[in-house]
Amino acid sequence: MMFFGSLLFTSFVLGASAVTISSLRSRGITYSTTPTPPSQDPWYTVPANFENTAPGTILRVRVAPGNIPSIIGNCSQAYHLLYRTTDARYRPSWAVTTLYVPLSPTNATSSGSTGDALLSYQFPYNSADVDSSPSYTWAAGVQSPDLPNALGLGWYVNFPDFEGPLAAFPAGIQEGHAVLDSIRAVLSSGFGLSPSTRYAMWGYSGGSVSSTWAAELQAAYAPELNFSGMAIGGIVPNVTNTFNLISGNFYAGLLPAGLLGITAQYPEAREYLVSRLKINGTYNATTFLKSLDIDFETGNILYQYQDIFNYFIGGKADLEVPLIQDIFNANGYQGYHGIPQMPTFVYKAIHDELSPVEDSDALVDRYCSVRANILYQRNTVGSHLDEDSNGDARAFEWLKTVLNGSYGSQYSTEGCTIQNVTVGVWNATLLV
Ligand SMILES: *[C@@H]1O[C@H](CO)[C@@H](O)[C@H](O)[C@H]1NC(C)=O
Ligand SMILES: *[C@@H]1O[C@H](CO)[C@@H](O)[C@H](O)[C@H]1NC(C)=O
Ligand SMILES: *[C@@H]1O[C@H](CO)[C@@H](O)[C@H](O)[C@H]1NC(C)=O
Ligand SMILES: *[C@@H]1O[C@H](CO)[C@@H](O)[C@H](O)[C@H]1NC(C)=O
Ligand SMILES: *[C@@H]1O[C@H](CO)[C@@H](O)[C@H](O)[C@H]1NC(C)=O
Ligand SMILES: *[C@@H]1O[C@H](CO)[C@@H](O)[C@H](O)[C@H]1NC(C)=O
Ligand SMILES: *[C@@H]1O[C@H](CO)[C@@H](O)[C@H](O)[C@H]1NC(C)=O
Ligand SMILES: *[C@@H]1O[C@H](CO)[C@@H](O)[C@H](O)[C@H]1NC(C)=O
Ligand SMILES: *[C@@H]1O[C@H](CO)[C@@H](O)[C@H](O)[C@H]1NC(C)=O
Repeated sequence: MMFFGSLLFTSFVLGASAVTISSLRSRGITYSTTPTPPSQDPWYTVPANFENTAPGTILRVRVAPGNIPSIIGNCSQAYHLLYRTTDARYRPSWAVTTLYVPLSPTNATSSGSTGDALLSYQFPYNSADVDSSPSYTWAAGVQSPDLPNALGLGWYVNFPDFEGPLAAFPAGIQEGHAVLDSIRAVLSSGFGLSPSTRYAMWGYSGGSVSSTWAAELQAAYAPELNFSGMAIGGIVPNVTNTFNLISGNFYAGLLPAGLLGITAQYPEAREYLVSRLKINGTYNATTFLKSLDIDFETGNILYQYQDIFNYFIGGKADLEVPLIQDIFNANGYQGYHGIPQMPTFVYKAIHDELSPVEDSDALVDRYCSVRANILYQRNTVGSHLDEDSNGDARAFEWLKTVLNGSYGSQYSTEGCTIQNVTVGVWNATLLV
């Protein structure tokens, strides 16, 4: 193992030895029990000169606060790694990931806990507030069954705060880099993963955005990584189409968060955006800017069914200016930065009301025209929210094959397979 940043942090490599609190303390790894919001937690800061380290270098590590094994099933321990990455403007930056260690790793040996399967799970936190970062919110109570279920299969789970310290939702370049560097960090962390570990990505909706961008950027940015696969559902290939579609519908709250998040690393564009907000009336700047301090669910309730373009003095036209459009061009359209090099499973509801299925069809066609290996399932039933549940079991089965080495015997390893399926295990009540 090579640590470019060893000058910053030398003492955290534990290898396969037993991980105890005292062994962590003796190695300088901090252990605290109270989860604190990132905006108030001094741990979420970078050491001096971090810019000189290579992307993926671990800069800080600690046991994740909050006694995670007591709240997340099938988990033996969880660690926070703060690592170097590269932001949407290709400047040195950093992010935090949580590495969840399974109770019984696949391929555990009698001498230790060497695991051979790692799932990078990109959770869609969809917020412009850094305090919605999953490294904090999951310790503070947010949960879904995917994580304990994945741990129960013996997989290690990487769970990155891919929006970074400025909560740059949904800036594709930022998010893709942060995912790739989180995987570099966990693979080198010494918490039980071996050089022969197989790894795959999984993400739905906002989690598919960061996963897809990671896959597109991988060949150029992290050429040494060799993913076994990627499962992406409810994909969102074109941010403009999604923004236009959701204004006025159930998901309208994603629009203030998305506009504030995607401009978070571009001060001039953020200043322009804010300057175009109305200051009085029902649709005013104060209400719009609340999006900076709330999570996805709160925003969903606050802005539901509102025409978000009403907040702007010039309406939608205020966003159709080069200062904003250039950011969308760089960070908002999939299919232009690279081609996924790994087997990919795409699942999407034909009636998805957050991103039109035509955008997904076009993205898959684009990848397939240059020999990507994709299984694309279009579900005839269900909404965007339904498909998250309807696709869950299919994604798990597919991921099992790429992570246990049986993919080639169960799926076509070349070209694309496109299917219409009808899987309605769940119909959400919150239909638009
Ligand atoms: C378990 O991992 C070791 C070390 O990476 C590897 O050599 C071995 O083949 C693996 N065993 C199984 C059964 O996968
Ligand atoms: C542990 O994982 C298994 C298999 O994925 C799952 O069935 C079980 O519900 C999980 N346990 C908990 C407590 O979540
Ligand atoms: C990636 O891993 C696969 C499966 O282990 C292997 O066949 C392939 O040669 C590897 N590719 C690279 C670029 O290392
Ligand atoms: C995204 O959607 C917009 C609005 O429909 C369209 O004008 C644009 O060409 C699309 N962009 C890309 C890169 O596909
Ligand atoms: C802004 O809008 C909210 C409702 O969205 C309203 O309660 C508040 O009074 C408005 N503020 C101004 C200055 O008009
Ligand atoms: C907001 O203020 C402007 C300028 O004072 C005024 O022309 C406009 O009527 C006000 N709008 C509302 C909805 O109060
Ligand atoms: C891998 O997982 C798939 C899907 O569950 C299963 O069909 C297959 O038997 C497994 N193969 C091995 C080698 O465990
Ligand atoms: C899936 O259904 C659409 C109509 O909704 C049809 O145009 C398309 O050919 C079908 N694709 C496949 C692979 O059957
Ligand atoms: C969900 O809705 C679809 C379309 O109306 C229907 O075919 C399917 O049976 C429903 N599934 C469940 C579990 O209710």
